[in-house]
Amino acid sequence: MKKILVTGGVGFIGSHVTISLLEKNYNVVIADSFLNSSKSFYIRMIELINSINPLLKKNISFYEGDIRNSYFLEKIFIDAKKEDNCIEGVIHLAGLKAVKESVKHPLNYWDCNLIGAIRLLNAMKKFNCHSLIFSSSATIYGKNQNLLIQENSDINPINPYGFTKATIEFMLHNLFESDLQKWRIANLRYFNPIGAHNSGLIGENPKGVPNNVFPLINKVASREIKKLKIFGNDWNTKDGTCIRDFIHIMDLAEGHILALEYLLKMKNSKFLNLNLGTGNPTSVLELVETFQNINNVKVSYDFANRREGDVERLVADNKLAKETLNWEPKRKISDMCIDGWKWHLNNKNFC
Ligand code: NAD
Ligand code: UD1
Repeated sequence: MKKILVTGGVGFIGSHVTISLLEKNYNVVIADSFLNSSKSFYIRMIELINSINPLLKKNISFYEGDIRNSYFLEKIFIDAKKEDNCIEGVIHLAGLKAVKESVKHPLNYWDCNLIGAIRLLNAMKKFNCHSLIFSSSATIYGKNQNLLIQENSDINPINPYGFTKATIEFMLHNLFESDLQKWRIANLRYFNPIGAHNSGLIGENPKGVPNNVFPLINKVASREIKKLKIFGNDWNTKDGTCIRDFIHIMDLAEGHILALEYLLKMKNSKFLNLNLGTGNPTSVLELVETFQNINNVKVSYDFANRREGDVERLVADNKLAKETLNWEPKRKISDMCIDGWKWHLNNKNFC
């Protein structure tokens, strides 16, 4: 059974990726510091695994620590080697991701994201593990007004968070070129993952007040927050609100498994950039309306000024990911709204 290290495996994306890996019969080792997650959420993941198949529990292990600590990371690789089941691949998700916070505290972002990646790559190199999936972001494309953004579009980040992601991609390319026999690397550029596992047992659980639109819609619907502020109704779009490419978190997770399988099968080295999005444009207002209609709840909103640093439209050209991985995002906006709301209702007071 192949052993995969998932950094940030207790986070929003990591928890769903972990479940998908276990269901595909991988052995998963998680490294997480709980910087933006919690022990109780990990326990919840175990509950979900138990409900899927109690036998899968033996295939997951957890290390609490910070990936910037080389000793911590190396211990994970050493333990795996001792068990005669070396880590064959890494899905690297640990990092900071709030754009606004990155503008205020850029050094924290460079420290966590860049140093974390460097320490991880050094450990991988030392233990002869050369297959890596990196969690990149559509934010690296910046103010790209193309109807559908392709992977070869300009990389032009507009905030410190985006710069850290773009820089890590460049660093990974340098590493790939340093030894053309070895590395198998896929940068997955996520668009806007939302929703939750359809069990309602795991989902997005940000610490503090959320910034992203979907967790906010949930909190308005459950009356924890009075009104959603929609940032701008004067954009050059069909209803004046911004357009995004929302993708169900389980479609995103399944994209990771296919990308991993693709890399692990490769005989030669490989460097890939892939957009993970649906290619379907949805306006913020359309998202709010679908959420209200499908869940039969009210989401009060006001229009507010445009948010600084926002972009009008971000939609993926996902042809390359579909063709390369034989991947097909299956879930609709209504599924994202149903599953996200189910998780939120079950877990309003979860910490
Ligand atoms: P998240 O905050 O829910 O998960 C990140 C996890 O990493 C958390 O559990 C946190 O505790 C852990 N972590 C952070 N720094 C760490 C460190 N130094 N050492 C060990 N653990 C650490 O975020 P997410 O939404 O699951 O995103 C995962 C990755 O995907 C991030 O790198 C993010 O930048 C990227 N990404 C996310 C989105 C999105 O919309 N959610 C979009 C594009 C890219
Ligand atoms: C943002 C980041 C992106 C990051 C992602 C996940 C930018 C430009 N991009 O994406 O890098 O990977 O979060 O952390 O910041 N909106 C409202 N009201 C709100 C919140 C959001 O109207 O209270 C609107 C925004 O204007 C935007 C859309 O909803 O048009 C989506 O916003 P959000 O969920 O924050 O994601 P992005 O900005 O697309």
